[in-house]
Amino acid sequence: YAVPVPENEPVLSYAPGSPEKAELKAELKAMRGKKIDVPMYIGSELVTTENKKRMAPPHDHKHTLGHFNYGDASHVEQAINAAMGAKQAWAELSWEHRASIFLKAADLVAGPYRAKINASTMLAQSKNPFQAEIDAACEYIDFLKFNVDFMTQIYAEQPESAPGMWNRLEHRPLEGFVFALTPFNFTSIAGNLPAAPAMMGNTVVWKPAESQVYSAQILMEIFREAGVPDGVINMVYVDGPVAGEVVFNHKDFGGLHFTGSTGVFQHLWKTIGENISKYKSYPRIVGETGGKDFIIAHKSADAKALATAITRGAFEFQGQKCSAASRAYIPDNIWKEVKDYIIEDHKSIKMGSPEDFTNFFNAVIDEKAFDKISKYIDAAKESNMAEIIAGGNYDKSEGYFIQPTIIVAKDPMFTTMCEEIFGPVITIYVYQAERFEEALELVDSTSPYALTGAIFSQDRYAIELATKKLVNAAGNFYINDKPTGAVVGQQPFGGSRASGTNDKAGSMLNLLRWVSPRTIKETF
Ligand code: SER
Repeated sequence: YAVPVPENEPVLSYAPGSPEKAELKAELKAMRGKKIDVPMYIGSELVTTENKKRMAPPHDHKHTLGHFNYGDASHVEQAINAAMGAKQAWAELSWEHRASIFLKAADLVAGPYRAKINASTMLAQSKNPFQAEIDAACEYIDFLKFNVDFMTQIYAEQPESAPGMWNRLEHRPLEGFVFALTPFNFTSIAGNLPAAPAMMGNTVVWKPAESQVYSAQILMEIFREAGVPDGVINMVYVDGPVAGEVVFNHKDFGGLHFTGSTGVFQHLWKTIGENISKYKSYPRIVGETGGKDFIIAHKSADAKALATAITRGAFEFQGQKCSAASRAYIPDNIWKEVKDYIIEDHKSIKMGSPEDFTNFFNAVIDEKAFDKISKYIDAAKESNMAEIIAGGNYDKSEGYFIQPTIIVAKDPMFTTMCEEIFGPVITIYVYQAERFEEALELVDSTSPYALTGAIFSQDRYAIELATKKLVNAAGNFYINDKPTGAVVGQQPFGGSRASGTNDKAGSMLNLLRWVSPRTIKETF
């Protein structure tokens, strides 16, 4: 089957004087100037309630962007009913019809909605324009277009037939509904988690993170304008445990598409296990969870390239990427040079509102995150096993600002070296250059996670050794590059161990989880 060959969406520059910059600035101003009221989307209804929750920019939390309408268990039930009601008609549509809807959605993001989706991500998630562009615009367009291409490859995959018979595979959607539980940190992931199962003919109940509702609403508007029928993707905002109680007790629960914390995912998995006899089929459980992503350098590493990877890998979007570098192992022979470069890079990082395009570094998502991250920084301040060599200050009076912080730990098992912080903090351990193999063992054994990691070396032998020794330490492994910024269609993304089920986002593997094939043998 031939669909338009997908190509990665070119990243716009937002250079001074560019039309995209003018358009984005105008959109930011418009969004600041109004107060929106975001409904829940259940079937054909836009549902409002008496329970309004306020939305504010993390970098300017006294400003009100608007409210969203908080629901309860009855709204989750209605959303499930809407999803189950829409299911048959959606599944019976031709795949070409579904493909064209999602290709249209990609086109809407690329064109008329680009400034809106980027501006909402900047304002409500405190992402700078370049980080918003690579996430909310480019990565999301890529997810939609590449997934349509993977979908056609899945449908084209057919078994052999012997003479006198015809064997076929029918890629049915799952029998129940899919529950999508999505994070604040990537607008593209939030959009992809409901879109990928829907593309394969499923209907979805979607609960976005509260701090991502502003851009989630725009994603919902794009789905509607692209032609996703009412009831196929339903969006509700409710307490997690309240939603879980309804969803996981429901006989029609068919699958979970999750990105979020390891603790929550493990809890949901247990709940699903406890309820397993209630369901018609074994539910598909797909999750991308935590990380404690590493950079390890060999004594032959290029110090400048390594320093740039540390700064960008740890501090882009305030370290709030599941892929962000948060521990680094540097050999003592190059440490002084690396340290000089990272301190120099650190001085050039401008912190402030993302609405000022010269600020590379913005606020962390909310007060809870601010408090958690600042506690880790305090632990380093108070310990004689660690030293803060850059940053370390924080202030939440106007926005949730935490300086990008670099800790050097004397103990490779120091708390900030082992635990996921999900903020702009990287901890470095300096090892004896001759003990590279022991350092590799430390990398592998220090954390329960296995999402991303990087090796810096100019010695091919050392690269081979690291690649072998760290075979299970990362689902995405980078050689001489930062461990963030996987591109859809180029580096399928996901990790194992406590980092998730490794069903690679933006790959055929992920889409295969949303079908339940039927084998048909017809004899003549
Ligand atoms: N895909 C993102 C990255 O690679 C993380 O979710 O940085």
